Amino acid sequence: MERLPPRFFVTGTDTGVGKTLVCAVLMSGLEAVYWKPVQSGEPGDTEWVQGATGLPAARFAPETYRFRLPRSPHEAAARQGVEIELDAFCPPRAARLIAEGAGGVLVPLNDRQLMVDLMTHLGLPVLLVARSGLGTLNHTLLSLEALRGRGLEVLGVVVNGPRDPANEEGITRYGQVRVLAAVEPLFRLDPEGLREAYRRCFGGGG
Ligand SMILES: Nc1ncnc2c1ncn2[C@@H]1O[C@H](COP(=O)(O)OP(=O)(O)OP(=O)(O)O)[C@@H](O)[C@H]1O
Ligand SMILES: [Mg+2]
Repeated sequence: MERLPPRFFVTGTDTGVGKTLVCAVLMSGLEAVYWKPVQSGEPGDTEWVQGATGLPAARFAPETYRFRLPRSPHEAAARQGVEIELDAFCPPRAARLIAEGAGGVLVPLNDRQLMVDLMTHLGLPVLLVARSGLGTLNHTLLSLEALRGRGLEVLGVVVNGPRDPANEEGITRYGQVRVLAAVEPLFRLDPEGLREAYRRCFGGGG
């Protein structure tokens, strides 16, 4: 796909906005490796993407940190007596990489650092997944400010959920950002359904 670079980081305006779903759609159309650097809660997003896409294990890198509790990484780590360290993150060397954050942009990793610091540490450009519906303008604009305030390159926004053209226009206008794709509710979360969604939402080749 022309519009996305080979390696990028997928973040979201909140937890549960559809980052993993969008990663599964992208993985179905791009020859990329998926990497979830910090996983809180089981089963993990890696297993979900692998199960839904049916892609081979070689397309999935192991998480750097994996915690049992479905809580913010700083808390999930502390409960297991672990402190997350940025230097421990070593991104896979794959030519094409899709890294998925946990929660949103300012989720704490430890007492000093936030998810956005991991993005900076990795040096990857960022794709922001946002809800399509009411409330998304505020969350999206806040997230864009936080990303840009730290000098991160924002590739664009993917809106997820029932189509809302006025919100898409609002994101473009007030956020000065491209809406790269709109992913509508999918009824087939299987390899063929996801490949179709990729073609429909992101168009064309790999
Ligand atoms: N477009 C969609 N069609 C169908 N189901 C969806 C869609 N978007 C999200 N979902 C479902 O909503 C739930 C939350 O989405 P998802 O797990 O992708 O969020 P997330 O942003 O990755 O959350 P987390 O912060 O936990 O990583 C999942 O069960 C997912 O399958
Ligand atoms: Mg996820």
